[in-house]
Parts: sequence; structure tokens; C-alpha cells
Amino acid sequence: MKILGIIIGTSDEPVTKKYYRENKSSLKILEEYDVFSEHIPYDFAIFAEIKRQGELKHIEVIPLFGDELTLEDCNECDYIFSIFEGVYSFMDGGSAGYKNYMNVLKKTTATVYPSQKMQQFIIEKHKYMKYLGDNKYKIPPTKFIDLSRISINPIMKFINKEELSEIIIKPELGAFKTGFKIIKKPTEKKVSDYLDKLKKQGYKRILLQPFISEFNKYGEIKTYWVDGKFVYAYKQQWKDGSGVFQHQDKIDKVLLRECLITASELLEDIFKDHEELVQCRIDFACCMNNDKRCREFFINEIEISPTIGSDKYELDGKGYSLLAKALLKKCK
Ligand SMILES: Nc1ncnc2c1ncn2[C@@H]1O[C@H](COP(=O)(O)OP(=O)(O)O)[C@@H](O)[C@H]1O
Ligand SMILES: [Mg+2]
Repeated sequence: MKILGIIIGTSDEPVTKKYYRENKSSLKILEEYDVFSEHIPYDFAIFAEIKRQGELKHIEVIPLFGDELTLEDCNECDYIFSIFEGVYSFMDGGSAGYKNYMNVLKKTTATVYPSQKMQQFIIEKHKYMKYLGDNKYKIPPTKFIDLSRISINPIMKFINKEELSEIIIKPELGAFKTGFKIIKKPTEKKVSDYLDKLKKQGYKRILLQPFISEFNKYGEIKTYWVDGKFVYAYKQQWKDGSGVFQHQDKIDKVLLRECLITASELLEDIFKDHEELVQCRIDFACCMNNDKRCREFFINEIEISPTIGSDKYELDGKGYSLLAKALLKKCK
């Protein structure tokens, strides 16, 4: 029997009561890992679904816990699927935790989905952002900065040339807005001080962008794909520090169609130039310097191990079973 290990271990995005009710019997096995009905993180729920479907296909599905990943455990598997990604290992264990996670996945004899190389390409945001830019996909104006050799002059030149009165700084390996900062009226001192601070926290690289107010005004359109096929989209805005989500129906139809065309072209390119992905989320923001015609969007982010919930705007978690099916198809 083949063994498929699923890397999990977040405590995020618990499944809804509805999802729990409808999947009670397969979720029950999670009690073995001290995960009970009141709070079932999305990654544990997906693991349970993969395990349920794996049994029907005679594949043994086991959990691998991301914060204590060992080469020994990974080598017992024929295949490994990462839901808990490198960003979590960094948040939990700093640079050492991240290094361990990446090293283990690099060395393991198991086939890893997404491959360690692909995970690194996405996690080191500047790499895929440059790939997008080189392939004529629209990305926001971005200055990529290596914190091991900061030189403030080119940074200030970027700020002055773009006449930026407000900038945002976001670190690679950041998630859920950690390390994210808006700097108003950026001066050399304000920027340097913040970069130094991030460097001390262990971050290696950052992205500097204009603060784009339209981002939140029109919202971010997040599109979710399994096996290269579109599953659903939703719209996210921020209000008083928390996310406000809207169902796909509320997105301008023409805009959504354009985003989906772009995303499917991009997936085709990634599959060709890099590798096929079991799942992927491509996030769009709209629009820059354009109030009237809300069509000039750009790609803000690609996630290959996205946090996917089971709310209504995420089709009540129907993506989980599609994901499990697509993954198991690969494990033959
Ligand atoms: N250039 C920008 N201008 C304004 N808001 C931004 C900008 N970049 C990101 N944001 C806001 O910050 C959030 C987090 O940034 P994002 O790039 O998605 O990183 P992550 O999801 O990895 O934390 C976005 O959802 C968006 O609301
Ligand atoms: Mg994001």
C-alpha cells in the first residue's frame, strides 16, 4: 500500500458548523490528534477528507506535523502533500524552523507536491513576481530589496521617481499581514529604521510598493483552482482590521471573466515552465489610478498552499473534496 503524508499543523480557519455537520463521520478520526468539533482547522479537515477518499483507493494517508518535520518521517512516505507551508514553519520556528522544513523536503525520498523547488519559488515572492513581470503579466510597481545588502539610495530614488507619498513594505515569508507596514510621507530615516527592524526579526527580503488605496476600495479578487480548473472566486476587503468577504455573485461579471482568463493563461504558463499544481490561488487587485472603469487589475499574489475555508463564499468547503480527488489521482 502506498503511503501519502499530508503536512498539517495550523490552527487557522476552522471549518463551519455546516461543514462539520455534513462531514462528522470522516472528521471523527481527528480526535486522535486532539482536534475536536469546536475547532477544526482547515488543514486538518482537508487531511480528513483526503484520508476518507484514500481509503477507498487503498492509499494510506498519514499526517505529518509541519512544526516537527523530520526526514525519517518523510522518508516513510511515497508521496507528501504540503498544506502547512514554509511560511508557517517560519512563523513557528523562525529561520531555523524554515530551514529545517525546506531541507527535509529537499532531501526526502518521497515525491513532494508541490515540489520543494516550487514552494521556494513561490515563497520567495520576488522570484515569481519577476517571472510574472517578465511574462507580461501586470504586477504592482515593486522594488525588491535584499536585506543583507540594503542601499537606501536606489530605494529613495524609486520612491521619489514614483512620487510616492505613501508606501507599503511587506516581507517575504510574511503572511496574514505580519511585517506589513504602511509608511506615510516616507523619509530615508523612516524607511531605513523599518528595514533594520525587519532584518533583526530574521526576514531576508522585502517588497516595497506604493500604497494603493484602490486595493481596498474595490477589493481583492481571489480565485481558487484545483487541477488547473477554476473552482470559485470571492472578493475580500478590509474593514477595521478584519476581512470582509463577498460571494462570487457580487463581483462585476466582466471583471471576473477577465481575471479568470488571465489566471488560466498564467496557470498554463506555470504548468509549462515550472510544474503542474494540485491547487492554486491567484489573487487580483483592481484598479490602479482608475476610478471609472474598474478593469485595470494586476496580480497581487499567488498561493500554492492557500488557506481555504468552508464558508458560503468558498462553496461551503466543496473545494476540499475536489482537492483530495485531484491529489489522489497523482498518487498512483
Ligand atoms: N500595495 C498595496 N497597497 C495597499 N494595500 C496592499 C498593498 N499590498 C497589499 N495590500 C493589502 O495587504 C494585504 C496583504 O498583502 P498580500 O500581498 O496579499 O500578502 P499576504 O497575503 O502574504 O500577507 C492585501 O490583501 C491587501 O489588502
Ligand atoms: Mg494575500
